[in-house]
Amino acid sequence: MSLQTDPQGRLRHLLALEGLPRATLEHLLDRAQALAGHAHGGSAMRGVLAGKAVCTLFFEPSTRTRSSFQLAAARLGADTLNFDASTSSAKKGETDADTLRTIEAMGVHGFVVRHPDDGAVDALARVARPGTVLVNAGDGRHAHPTQGLLDMLTLRQAKGADFSRLKVLIVGDVKHSRVARSDLHALRTLGCGEIRICGPWSLLPGPAVLAGCTVTTDFDAALDGVDAVMMLRLQRERMESGLVSSLQDYHRDYGLTVARLRQAAPDAVVMHPGPMNRGVEIADDVADGPQSLVLRQVANGVAVRMAVLEALLG
Ligand code: CP
Repeated sequence: MSLQTDPQGRLRHLLALEGLPRATLEHLLDRAQALAGHAHGGSAMRGVLAGKAVCTLFFEPSTRTRSSFQLAAARLGADTLNFDASTSSAKKGETDADTLRTIEAMGVHGFVVRHPDDGAVDALARVARPGTVLVNAGDGRHAHPTQGLLDMLTLRQAKGADFSRLKVLIVGDVKHSRVARSDLHALRTLGCGEIRICGPWSLLPGPAVLAGCTVTTDFDAALDGVDAVMMLRLQRERMESGLVSSLQDYHRDYGLTVARLRQAAPDAVVMHPGPMNRGVEIADDVADGPQSLVLRQVANGVAVRMAVLEALLG
């Protein structure tokens, strides 16, 4: 039986985008677009989760994901509880499962979980009470489904809902990136015309992750005519040493500069999930330039997370 959906195919948790039907993805994106006008203020949607509680259960640092989930839950009228592992009884050895059960016992039914280990959120979903809802806010290298959704919403707003003619390039540390994995699943499901992957061999994952993509180590060749460039953060915290010779070499070979970006389509857009290593994978004048959608992605995060919480808890 699927952990993520019930026998009728309805979402019980949001753990990954892999395997979700196109109709489910498109429904969440449509709903996020409809909620966008309520994402940054107002009380019109406060009844949706009134009387419910959402806990952000984070075992890893976050700025965007945690804050936008808290805002999304508040905009929908839920009580919010912020659990930070670094100041919790997890530091005294309490297990993740006992932490979840403890907060469940306080009447919390929605958990937004970030964890350094692949599969940790699935493991918590297996021990949660029936009716408790889990949203994966990023687990190890495995998945970051709401980032994938907000990236698709941002791309859709910029390029239209028909992805069949789009050429999308994902660049950098794909090997360690849960964002890349979620984006790849979403792009395939939404029928993206061409997906290119570029990075040094040491930072590319195995063929199963890259199925159906055009893969190259030559960034200049990869940029040719693309409609969107999705840059990835060099994830030094997940990386064994020696995968990158130096940050200067990395920037020379895989840093997106204004000069490089001219090889993409004239109206190409630039995306990055953040946080950015400025001067490493992306130059300041690209990050802050007219083709950058980085802050649009952040803004869309609130609407997407409202749509997800509404679908699961509303
Ligand atoms: N994109 C993203 O997950 O950012 P945070 O780590 O700041 O949440």
